[in-house]
Amino acid sequence: MKALVLCGGAGSRLRPITHTSAKQLVPVANKPVLFYGLESIAAAGVTETGIVVGDTAQEIRRAVGDGSAFGLEVTYLPQDAPLGLAHAVLIARDFLGDDDFVMYLGDNFIVGGISGLVDDFRTERPDARILLTHVPEPTAFGVAELDDTGRVVSLEEKPQVPRSDLALVGVYLFTPAVHEAVRSIQPSRRGELEITDAIQWLLDQGRDVRATTISGYWKDTGNVTDMLEVNRTVLETLEPRVEGDVDASSEIIGRVRIEAGAKVFRSRVVGPAVIGAGTVIADSCIGPFSSIAEDCRIEGSEIEYSIVLRRATVAGVSRIEESLIGHSVEVTPAPSTPAVHRLVLGDHSRVQIAS
Ligand code: G1P
Repeated sequence: MKALVLCGGAGSRLRPITHTSAKQLVPVANKPVLFYGLESIAAAGVTETGIVVGDTAQEIRRAVGDGSAFGLEVTYLPQDAPLGLAHAVLIARDFLGDDDFVMYLGDNFIVGGISGLVDDFRTERPDARILLTHVPEPTAFGVAELDDTGRVVSLEEKPQVPRSDLALVGVYLFTPAVHEAVRSIQPSRRGELEITDAIQWLLDQGRDVRATTISGYWKDTGNVTDMLEVNRTVLETLEPRVEGDVDASSEIIGRVRIEAGAKVFRSRVVGPAVIGAGTVIADSCIGPFSSIAEDCRIEGSEIEYSIVLRRATVAGVSRIEESLIGHSVEVTPAPSTPAVHRLVLGDHSRVQIAS
């Protein structure tokens, strides 16, 4: 069994963060979302992993390397243009050979991993197994229709009128039967070869496609609200650990991880929260549900239910909530007279101002 991990895509829903960084590398509890997926592939006993990369290939390669840190043997498979998930399977044909494989979308997050699913697949070997979950907005996903006995009847990619609220989760298990399917379909309205259509093709051929509905938390981390939710969920399972320096006048409450080289002065950190290596927190309140990445500076500020990325500075800001603050961003007060907002914002930035 092999793994095919998809790390192409533009990440347009997570702009402006994804102007400068791959969506699969956006951190959850200070670890790239992709790493959780790679760890769960290794935990399921799969080693040979192909990673399909696009425009952000360099960044993904730098982060994952040869995969040995995860116990994986990684082969990179460049995709010239984002032509769809089924197209990724097409270009991975030589790498996959005639092995079964698990396909994992690098921006998806599955609580509890995939070991049970992979074990079941190895035993049962249907032609394909898909994962489903109930979602409030099925139009944003591939949607499955099941009959009364739980058999898959039909699949549709981003339907305007969904036949159910069961969305396709970004983990799929395939036998080599899928190769003929991806060769047989035509591009969709959005010009992509959809894996959803390839699985529908298998159904049309009378092949054995089974579904597992998972209740474990998962999200396509394509938007900020979802990111903050995933971050909260993962922080709640964090092992509390203080490796950095905390001075005597600071208070650390609950599930908090302070990484080596971080410094906390005259501050209160309420868990669950993580403070990255090299970050300085002074005269501030952090948490709950907050991840502050490496080498940040937070001074005289309050931050709750937020993610702050590497090298950002937040100083003298009384309260930040439900925010995603990008790499090397500076948030500081404007002069009080005249009372103005001064903004230097990149393309697709979004700002909500209290006054
Ligand atoms: C892709 C699939 C869709 C699936 C989703 C899960 O959508 O096409 O069927 O539900 O991943 O993350 P995309 O991320 O390309 O919009």
